[in-house]
Amino acid sequence: VRTLVVGSAGQLGHDLARTFGDTELLTVDRASLDITDERRVLEVVREARPDVVLNAAAWTDVDGAESAPDAAMQVNAFGPWHLARACDEVAATLVTVSTDYVFGGAAVDGVGPGGRGWREDDPVAPDNAYGRSKVAGEELVRVATDRHHIVRTAWLSGAHGSNIVRTILRLGRERPVLSFVDDQLGSPTTTADLAVGIRRLVDTGEHGTTHLTNSGTASWYDLAVAVVELAGLPARVERRRTEPGERPAARPSWSVLDGSRAEALGVGPLPYWRVALAHLLDELGELQHEGPAERRDP
Ligand SMILES: NC(=O)c1ccc[n+]([C@@H]2O[C@H](COP(=O)([O-])OP(=O)(O)OC[C@H]3O[C@@H](n4cnc5c(N)ncnc54)[C@H](OP(=O)(O)O)[C@@H]3O)[C@@H](O)[C@H]2O)c1
Repeated sequence: VRTLVVGSAGQLGHDLARTFGDTELLTVDRASLDITDERRVLEVVREARPDVVLNAAAWTDVDGAESAPDAAMQVNAFGPWHLARACDEVAATLVTVSTDYVFGGAAVDGVGPGGRGWREDDPVAPDNAYGRSKVAGEELVRVATDRHHIVRTAWLSGAHGSNIVRTILRLGRERPVLSFVDDQLGSPTTTADLAVGIRRLVDTGEHGTTHLTNSGTASWYDLAVAVVELAGLPARVERRRTEPGERPAARPSWSVLDGSRAEALGVGPLPYWRVALAHLLDELGELQHEGPAERRDP
């Protein structure tokens, strides 16, 4: 199997390259392939003749997208569109990654704390420019090729890149008290586990839209407490509520994705988030206390 990883310098791109390392692997970072350049995308895909293209390239600056929605749209909508058309031409499967932020703007009966997570067929209603660009990318991929996987995930952290876990580690050394919101809930997910899930998904030979995150539910406060505990940092973590308008982009209060489809495909469940976090901290050389061996909600 020939695999082309696009956006290979990002945190997920790095772990995808590792996880698909036993295939005939080609990787391109932004310097060698800008996915907004349709001609270049065609050229690279035609030359690589891959069986599978894994797209980890994206505009991921959620707040920055509010003041540059067109630029975010170029990368997150037209980038996947170019890749999907090129994949269709060479009969390759495209895996592209989307987000929980496609939801959040509207209430759906039964979805939310105490209820269920978002399912693949729940109506999308993005609340920010980044989410709108990802919805547009999903739709363009669906119309460009049937041979696609749209993998929606959430709250990613990996060993190679900047992310919330690394921010908590830094702040936990700089400050005696950290303050994190406890009214936004999601499933913290490591790019290492997501890459393994994507590998299993590709191996099923099925196509479509699939939700894939680590298991369990946490608030940003729970995540900060877990990082501080597992890394043995001296900081204390305080809870706070989200202030209206505190960030340029609105964030959904419920980011939990239902994993039933992944389970039905034999791809999930991925490990419990705190177990995944302990592995990530270990990889970063920051694990001081053993994580739990199995599921344990805070
Ligand atoms: N991070 C999260 O919490 C989260 C949550 C849900 C979904 N996702 C999705 O998961 C996927 C992977 O995210 P990640 O956290 O691994 O992101 P990341 O670390 O920010 O990596 C994204 C990569 O894409 C590259 N890139 C940006 N514009 C490009 C372009 N026009 N052409 C080619 N490459 C370009 C970036 O290069 P530069 O660094 O040089 O700009 C970077 O290497 C993305 O689709 C993201 O939207 C992320």
